[in-house]
Amino acid sequence: MKIKTLLTFTSLLLISSTSMAQQTQSLHLKHVRQELSKHMQNTTDAIALEDWEMVVKLAPQIGQHEEPPASEKLRILAYLGKDAARFRGYDHQTHEAADEMRSAALKQDGKAVINAYAKIQTNCLACHSNFRSGFQKHFYESLGSGK
Ligand code: HEC
Repeated sequence: MKIKTLLTFTSLLLISSTSMAQQTQSLHLKHVRQELSKHMQNTTDAIALEDWEMVVKLAPQIGQHEEPPASEKLRILAYLGKDAARFRGYDHQTHEAADEMRSAALKQDGKAVINAYAKIQTNCLACHSNFRSGFQKHFYESLGSGK
C-alpha cells in the first residue's frame, strides 16, 4: 500500500474509532446479524407451513441486509485487511443463495427452497467459523466491555 493512502486510511480510522467508542460499544453489525437470525427463524417456520409467499418476502431480507454505517465499515475493513475479499465473498454467496431461495419459493418448489436454505446456512457458518471469534476479540475484548 502506498504511504499516502496508508496515512489517510489511518487518520480516518483514528477519527472513526474515537467517535464510535463514545457512541456505542457494540457494533451495528451485531444488530444486523440479530435481524438476520430472526429472518432465518421465520423462514424455517414458513417452510414448515409451506407458506411460499412468506419465503418470497423473507428471502430478500436475508440477502440484502442493512449495511453498517460508513465509519463502522471503515473500521471493519481496516481490521480485515487482505481478508476483506474473503469476508465479502461469504456475504456475496449468502446473497446469491437467498436469491435462489426466492426463485424456488416463487415456483413453490419446497425441495429447492430447502436446498437453498441449507446453502445460506452453510455460508453463515463458514463466515462465523472464520471470522466471528476474531471480531469479538478485536472489537469487544479490546474495549474491555465484553459484549
Ligand atoms: C460475511 C460474514 C458473515 C456472514 C455471511 C454471516 N455472519 Fe453472522 N456474524 C459475523 C460476524 C463477524 C459476527 C460477530 C460480530 C459481532 O458479534 O458483532 C456475527 C455474528 C452473528 C450473530 C451473533 C450476534 C450476537 O448477538 O452476538 C448472529 C445471530 C449471526 N451472526 C447470524 C447470522 C446469520 C443467520 C447468517 C446467515 C444468514 C450470518 N450471520 C451470516 C459475520 C457473518
